[in-house]
Amino acid sequence: MLDTLGNLKRTQYCGALRASDADKDVVLMGWVHRRRDLGQLIFIDLRDRAGIAQIVFNKELHAEAHAKAEDLRSEFVVAVEGRVIRRQKANPDIPTGDVEVLATRLHVLNNSKTPPFQIEDEVTASEETRLRHRYLDLRRPRLHGNIELRHRVVLEIRKALDELGFFEIETPILTRSTPEGARDCLVPSRIHHGQFYALPQSPQIFKQILMISGMDRYFQICRCFRDEDFRADRQLEFTQLDLEMSFPRQQDIFEAIERVMERACAVVGVQAKGPFRHLDYKEALRRYGSDKPDLRFGMELQNVTQFFEPARAVLHFEGNVQAVVAPGAAGWSRKQLDELAEFAKSAGARGVYTVKVTAEGISSPLEKNLGADGLKSLAGAVGAKPGDLVVAVAAKEQIPHTDTSLYAAGQIRLHLGDKLNLIDRSKWEFAWITGFALFEWSETEKRWVSAQHPFTGIYEEDLDKLETAPWECRSKGYDLVLNGNELGSGSIRIHRQDVQARMFKALGLSDEQAKQRFGFFLDALTYGTPPHGGIALGIDRVVMLLAGEKSIREVIAFPKTTAAVDLMAESPSEVDTAQLDELGIAIKEPAK
Ligand code: AMO
Repeated sequence: MLDTLGNLKRTQYCGALRASDADKDVVLMGWVHRRRDLGQLIFIDLRDRAGIAQIVFNKELHAEAHAKAEDLRSEFVVAVEGRVIRRQKANPDIPTGDVEVLATRLHVLNNSKTPPFQIEDEVTASEETRLRHRYLDLRRPRLHGNIELRHRVVLEIRKALDELGFFEIETPILTRSTPEGARDCLVPSRIHHGQFYALPQSPQIFKQILMISGMDRYFQICRCFRDEDFRADRQLEFTQLDLEMSFPRQQDIFEAIERVMERACAVVGVQAKGPFRHLDYKEALRRYGSDKPDLRFGMELQNVTQFFEPARAVLHFEGNVQAVVAPGAAGWSRKQLDELAEFAKSAGARGVYTVKVTAEGISSPLEKNLGADGLKSLAGAVGAKPGDLVVAVAAKEQIPHTDTSLYAAGQIRLHLGDKLNLIDRSKWEFAWITGFALFEWSETEKRWVSAQHPFTGIYEEDLDKLETAPWECRSKGYDLVLNGNELGSGSIRIHRQDVQARMFKALGLSDEQAKQRFGFFLDALTYGTPPHGGIALGIDRVVMLLAGEKSIREVIAFPKTTAAVDLMAESPSEVDTAQLDELGIAIKEPAK
């Protein structure tokens, strides 16, 4: 028989009990985390959102409550009335460990099936099982902590932006496509047969229109939808802090975000005071082989192509060769070197060329290609010391206007940094990356595409090259990176209608196509558009890093899998034929 809650009122959270509560009468409510039956005494760990408290049922003192406690099982929901007493032996491992509650009455409010996995921070269950039963997974203190952290971070962001004079304004979810480089999620319209809404990839056009509307400073914590390839830091739907300002200098946008990040980081006690360092995109690529460099360690890339020139034909490589010096790795075993070679292949390298530098001398499989002198000059040029391993790579694939060797070497740098424990995990290295090119070459489409999106500003001096030398156009875009992650991206925008129209043309859109897709926006631009700019940060990524998690799924209450499936709600799902009929939709095989 289950009890009812009736008029019973909770006095505090289990996790909030402290030594100062001793001798108080309390009412606690929560889930049975664990139960230990010692005959005369039954102990339960009672868990709620704040933590765990130990409850003791004493047969001699409170026989009725003790008898009921005999039937308790994991995850039953109970209310306990009792008195807080000091424990005979404190448990220093939990914050409530100085005290326990001697139960006088027990109310069993609900029972529970045996959960498919233990509600513990260290779970052995697969992620699939966890996601299928997300309501149980979310009961784990670690996920509770992450979700609470997310709330606090977002709250701080809102407060900081309110203080800076930003208005939070909602933009539509059912809208038309805004290109951010991914596929759209489409929603069929019932009323307008054959027509579709697109879910926003971002509120980009709307926020720019809000600037045209004179709102001056806008922000939104908004959901965005992108049908792209999913990874640990990407979801089908995700949350952005999106903002836009009128009449801004780049520096004004940076300062606003630095304030926001300072407040967000303070939630976990991390100091992140602006101004953050600035790094030119080309320099970031050249030194770290990445446009989102992890600046918590050095091990910079060095171009060593000249040393490999004599062996270019024999080693069958094209393009450049980049090297990093792995400190203390000269003693690596055959197995470790094989693993490195395996990783290098997956990182797009032709292979790795290693040179061991020891007190005895320099050795390398490259000796037959470069000669002893060649090896010596190479090791000297990169500054390798005895004990170091020089790791050099050329890229497998060559892409026009791109030095692919840098990207391959950049990944190897990260891999080695991790393996050699070079990354100082206590550091929070923010950087603004600027100086991007406006366009990048798309091998699949065989044309120039926006490196960011088509609304990104272009330097006035480069306007003439828009049609003639697009690869030379510099963008007014910037990214914010933290510890090797891209947190956000933004730009000073194009605010002149004629420039925007030329931009669409440069991207291969005819006047007709531009009008059809963006006509309303091109129109709006003609009515006194102020210079404006903004940025969007990935909230999931920010919280993931602050929580010290490796996947954004750990900081999203109901995430989807990498296959874009919600295992708990079982979406996507088929729908009734009646629903499809009403929409006039028939299912056919997708085009290949
Ligand atoms: P961008 O496309 O770079 O810029 O997105 C901004 C930030 O959003 C996060 N993000 C994602 N997070 C999780 N899952 C995804 N699939 C995903 N895609 C992006 C990243 C990224 O840095 N409209 C522009 C911003 C602007 O110009 O103001 C935009 O959306 O952290």
